Amino acid sequence: MAGGAIIATADTARIEAPVTMKAYLMCVFAAFGGFFFGYDSGYVGGVLGMKYFIHQFQGLPYPAAGATASESAYFVLSSSNNSLIVSILSAGTFFGAVIAGDLSDWFGRRTTIIAGCGVFAVGVALQLASSTIALLAVGRIIAGFGVGFVSAIIILYMSEIAPRKVRGAIVAGYQFAITIGLMVASCVDYATQNRLDSGSYRIPISIQLIPAIILATGLFILPESPRYFVIKGQLEKAAAVLSRVRGQPQDSEYIQQELAEIIANHEYEMSVIPQSGYFSSWANCFKGGLSKPSSNLRRTILGTSLQMMQQWTGVNFIFYYSTIFLQSLHTISNPFLISMIFTIVNVCSTPISFWTVERFGRRTILVWGALGMVICQFIVGAVGTALPNDQNATRALIAFICIYIFFFASTWGPGAWVVIGEIFPIPIRSRGVGLSTASNWLWNCIIAVITPYMVGENKGNLGPKVFFIWGSLCAVCFVYSYFLIPETKGLSLEQVDRMFEETTPRHSSKWVPHSTFAADMGMTEKSHEVIPQHEEEKSFA
Ligand code: BGC
Repeated sequence: MAGGAIIATADTARIEAPVTMKAYLMCVFAAFGGFFFGYDSGYVGGVLGMKYFIHQFQGLPYPAAGATASESAYFVLSSSNNSLIVSILSAGTFFGAVIAGDLSDWFGRRTTIIAGCGVFAVGVALQLASSTIALLAVGRIIAGFGVGFVSAIIILYMSEIAPRKVRGAIVAGYQFAITIGLMVASCVDYATQNRLDSGSYRIPISIQLIPAIILATGLFILPESPRYFVIKGQLEKAAAVLSRVRGQPQDSEYIQQELAEIIANHEYEMSVIPQSGYFSSWANCFKGGLSKPSSNLRRTILGTSLQMMQQWTGVNFIFYYSTIFLQSLHTISNPFLISMIFTIVNVCSTPISFWTVERFGRRTILVWGALGMVICQFIVGAVGTALPNDQNATRALIAFICIYIFFFASTWGPGAWVVIGEIFPIPIRSRGVGLSTASNWLWNCIIAVITPYMVGENKGNLGPKVFFIWGSLCAVCFVYSYFLIPETKGLSLEQVDRMFEETTPRHSSKWVPHSTFAADMGMTEKSHEVIPQHEEEKSFA
């Protein structure tokens, strides 16, 4: 194709090939990265409650000499150690997600994800070797770095290779993998919790290596993102991978038109957002002022605040602390089993979003999902507070927590990830997605640290009243999504840029693309020469 021409189109509906099975399979595979995220955040809660683990890490024998397990005195880890072990992962993940954006622009999306798997494996190995809190914490922060790379860049990679008609559904597949990770972790913990050897915690820790190895190996076979090659000015390679991803010949109209659109959008973005030096390109994420709806600053705030809001829904209160919370109600005989059921409801409800996110759109499901969550949370708070110690009330409370999880899993869970993959213009996309993911982890960490103080029996002791706090925060999510979330369904990532410039979130679902970047950049009149490989860097500098 060197020296050939890219034929652009002005037809806004024509810039992409029909969806192929291959594209689906590729994205389904990439979504597998979500498994890490879920498993890693899910396994630790159970391990912290395992008696063998607790004693081992305090240098105490278990069972005590001459006693059986049931006769042995039971110690717990200090709150500060618990909090350190849980939150240090999120700290590592936060920094991993922030730097991953840069790495993915320098070395490629795919390479960064593979590197993330490697870093993660080192962290897991240290955790496996550990029998002290210090080494465990070091292992978790390193593993966190790896999870940060993977969680930020998988979203970017999938959004960039997925056909736009199914992009939302495919990113929702990532969320599905997160929920499976959470569920598998709680099942593994359940199975090993009573072992009287280090297998009790080493088995749950080591299982994480399996998805890391599968993901890294599989990514060697998958192609790099065509948008990364466009950023690098390697148009030959961009055309080649696009043709692989879309299953069309490199010189077909589909490939040429889609490539022309990506190039034209990139040229346009580069002309409005000049890149000069490392720090100023970071500064670009915060430029453009607050009053302009399409400014980079507004989009960065949108992405980071959306992920913050997703954590404010209180979902991780359920996944991290439901066992402890249910125990504190004193009306439930098997809190561990019920917590596991919560993770199962989460898994089963997520696939609904594959359909709703494309059928009704991102904005719609976020608005309605928030409303559904508000209602459930307030019912749980009211029933739990009005009728403590009542078996039937407890059943109702559990049922409404399940319905709440259903709403989260089918809307905000996937929705937040889908939207951050779609709102950033190319020059700041990798950093924007990285910052938004980092915000998710930051708030995840903050909530993990403060929640025990809100519900701890010798602390805030809020009991079911804590659901009034989550309910109020979900009400904020409702207002937020109604006023601030635009509809990005069905648009190419390039058209999303236009939509930001030309409409407001509340009217965005009615906005229709009216021209292509290629047409606006004059690429339909004169065909765009594909530059021979060795000249590309120069001409794009
Ligand atoms: C959130 C996680 C949460 C999970 C539950 C994700 O989208 O970011 O914090 O634990 O959903 O399914």
